[in-house]
Amino acid sequence: MTTIGIIGTGNMGSALVKGWLSAGDDSLRLLIWDKVEQAARRLLTCESVHMPPSLESLVREADPLVVVVKPQDAGALLGTVGPLLRPGQKVISSMAGVGLADLRALVGRGPLLFRIMPNLAVALGAGVVAVADEAGGPAPDLQQVIDLLSPLGLVVPVPESVFEVVTAVTGAGPALLAVAVEAMEDGAVAAGVPRPLARRLVRRMALQTARLLPRLDDSPDCLRSLVGDMAPLCHTVLEQAEARGITAAYEAAVVAAVQRGRELAAQAQTLAAVPCRVEGVVPAVEAEAPALQGEASAGASPVGDREAPRGDDQEG
Ligand SMILES: NC(=O)c1ccc[n+]([C@@H]2O[C@H](COP(=O)([O-])OP(=O)(O)OC[C@H]3O[C@@H](n4cnc5c(N)ncnc54)[C@H](OP(=O)(O)O)[C@@H]3O)[C@@H](O)[C@H]2O)c1
Repeated sequence: MTTIGIIGTGNMGSALVKGWLSAGDDSLRLLIWDKVEQAARRLLTCESVHMPPSLESLVREADPLVVVVKPQDAGALLGTVGPLLRPGQKVISSMAGVGLADLRALVGRGPLLFRIMPNLAVALGAGVVAVADEAGGPAPDLQQVIDLLSPLGLVVPVPESVFEVVTAVTGAGPALLAVAVEAMEDGAVAAGVPRPLARRLVRRMALQTARLLPRLDDSPDCLRSLVGDMAPLCHTVLEQAEARGITAAYEAAVVAAVQRGRELAAQAQTLAAVPCRVEGVVPAVEAEAPALQGEASAGASPVGDREAPRGDDQEG
């Protein structure tokens, strides 16, 4: 039996809970906690999800802990949780922009740290989850985390150095695609098709095109040529879009999102632990933080050369 503790059950925390539940794995038990009790309570939909009496008891019972609060809440939360963590206990952070070195400085020595970047489709078991561990971490521990995440969708180990790029693409990407879908729908409406019909057609087309992509050996551009060569009409569509700089606009949007992510990551380095003392526990964070931050950043990174256990063919 694996007990996963999920701290923060807002948008992403509840998506993770739903994803794990939809896997129907009897060997998983989920403990959930949120500052807003009601946000956690609404997820108590089946026997395998529990709300412990306190955050301390969640930390005691669960391994791994999955931290799904906003980056600005990291200091307060990890200042409280850090002193309670056991050596070797796994902590998986989903917080955008908070690096493993920042996390290590907050929790001190002992726990194993992992960083993930999921997206909301994890609720359907169809998400993308990038995962990184600290440099030199034992590969079997990373593999255990990958196995645990695999019911949520495609799990891809990446070097931490590309996390901001991953965040921009898999995090902001759905918003960019939504713009494309909505604009095509608007075009159909402008040409006289009723909105509900336009919506149905365009969404279905988008969904099925996305399902085709993993089957194409070459780049998605080969899909463009397959469609584009079929009829002059398709050339017109692509020419018109390109004349307005559609490709450059998409590229620029991704680059800007990466840049913004890096700015946020730089801000996160100033996060400070705000330990709330728990009876009988002396926060280790204050004493250890500076030395550990140095150690952790000195050895940043790569897990990228380890094989991802799940390939594209396991998508959707
Ligand atoms: N949403 C996404 O698509 C997405 C994608 C990838 C990664 N992420 C990452 O996931 C994290 C959560 O994002 P989100 O969109 O789910 O945010 P959210 O909807 O605001 O959920 C966070 C929840 O955590 C609660 N919380 C704050 N401090 C807490 C504490 N000390 N103990 C327990 N619960 C606490 C919040 O309560 P209050 O509202 O009262 O503060 C809120 O209910 C972020 O770090 C984000 O970078 C999100």
